[in-house]
Amino acid sequence: MAGVSSVESPQGVAGQAESDRWWTNGVFYQIYPRSFSDGNGDGVGDLGGVRERLGYLELLGIDAIWLSPVMRSPMADHGYDVSDPRDIDPLFGDLATMDALIEEAHARRIKVTMDLVPNHTSDQHEWFVAALAAAPGSPERSRYIFRDGKGENGDEPPNNWPSIFGGPAWTRITEADGTPGQWYLHIFAREQPDLNWENPEVAEDLYTTLRFWLSRGVDGFRIDVAHGMAKPEGLPDHDWDLNELMRNDDDDPRFNNPGVHEIHRGIRKVMNEFPGTMAVGEIWVRDNERFGEYIRPDELHLGFNFRLAEAKFSAEQVRAAVDNSLAAVAAVGGTPTWTLSNHDVEREVTRYGGGALGWARARAMTLVEFALPGAVFVYNGAELGLPNVDDLPEDALQDPVWERSGHTERGRDGCRVPLPWQGTEPPFGFTTAESTWLPMPADWAPLTVEAQLEDVRSMLSLYRTAIELRSQRPEFSGDGLDWYGSPPGCLAFRRRGGLICALNATDGPIPLPPGQLLLASAPLVDGALPSNAAAWLI
Ligand code: GLC
Repeated sequence: MAGVSSVESPQGVAGQAESDRWWTNGVFYQIYPRSFSDGNGDGVGDLGGVRERLGYLELLGIDAIWLSPVMRSPMADHGYDVSDPRDIDPLFGDLATMDALIEEAHARRIKVTMDLVPNHTSDQHEWFVAALAAAPGSPERSRYIFRDGKGENGDEPPNNWPSIFGGPAWTRITEADGTPGQWYLHIFAREQPDLNWENPEVAEDLYTTLRFWLSRGVDGFRIDVAHGMAKPEGLPDHDWDLNELMRNDDDDPRFNNPGVHEIHRGIRKVMNEFPGTMAVGEIWVRDNERFGEYIRPDELHLGFNFRLAEAKFSAEQVRAAVDNSLAAVAAVGGTPTWTLSNHDVEREVTRYGGGALGWARARAMTLVEFALPGAVFVYNGAELGLPNVDDLPEDALQDPVWERSGHTERGRDGCRVPLPWQGTEPPFGFTTAESTWLPMPADWAPLTVEAQLEDVRSMLSLYRTAIELRSQRPEFSGDGLDWYGSPPGCLAFRRRGGLICALNATDGPIPLPPGQLLLASAPLVDGALPSNAAAWLI
């Protein structure tokens, strides 16, 4: 093969035990707790449900779970509005359930990481309740971002920022004496007031929360909106041309302000008190240099790079996404991360075209993803090949985006439908209740865990085999990769340990690179790789 080119991704960090850096090539499994498994029969998933399914996760072969938020929350944004960061919401269980889950997961050699939401709290958090009761300029108000309104009567918002979920990013309150009052900033829903990170109390409280969970045995955190928190001096207006969910421009004043790095340094110092723990940030920053800043050795351990989740099923786009993600971390000696989906984006089977085509392509991309050096994040249900459910009835929609957009955007519920476990009709063993918090499609019987577990051609079997090979074979070792020259519409790369991965995104079969076949996402056709398929060779 001609034209080999290489991309470096150094990962060595002096002074840390290799076992403490388990996350550098770990497979994380994201559990959206409402949707994974219901242990108490109320139609909503919970921690009891996760405990019951640990055997499944062990069988899948993952290294760690990432629990989307399970802290106390009024659930305006399904847990991303936290009213007490040091307690478990009764919907999901209690601290004893969480302790048991940590212990049982560890017994199965599965690490437990939690979502942490430092950019904002719930409007039901005791701090915000106190802020509303207190006067403008009070210490209670200074934990959030309160401002007087513009205009003669202060009845215009302090600046022109929109909320990510639609509508303005400011809400006006009524003061304790009943008069129209100040405005508070909420980049997300109005039930999610932004914290004022200039107030040292805010950082101190987060450190208390970090230590609270780390002392209970939690192995790390996914940091929500890790590019948020710091706000620019004077909260300037902006010329808006992009305000899409999770896709802001780099010059968006709401995000990626330089002060954020001091916040991450503070978080890292606390994490360092607990060797072997890690933090991964949700970082929607496109510029590589600025992205890399978040994972300098004294900041976050990992940062989500969403290029692969955004790429179309095209060899050119996938290769560009891989190059970009490797380059973004290379400059700072960081570890790349890979993900095809999460609870905020369309599921990959649907994104790649849906039906049999989307299924085949999702299988192929699974092999590409697991062949790459670094940490992989699997969103629950991806291993079953679940599609998005785009025809949920309107009265079932729950994402705050639906209301805040004035019913113009359906939001993210389509990727959050509960997982099908067994049986032939909804709720497919997810719950003992008759209905589930989002309705499950009647045609998911072939997608249940039960239906796929023993079927060697299933998506679940592909995931299990891929994860097992990735964790056991020496060919998957080494940082960085070398690209092979390949026909248009195809790509092939080689890991330093010797694994070769080839992807065929064309309409016809292509010959495979030389080597012994380890795994293919579809049966070969006369020794060639069919279209919409990928293969591993050694
Ligand atoms: C993050 C989460 C998303 C949530 C938002 C506000 O982007 O992934 O689900 O709505 O933060 O906390």
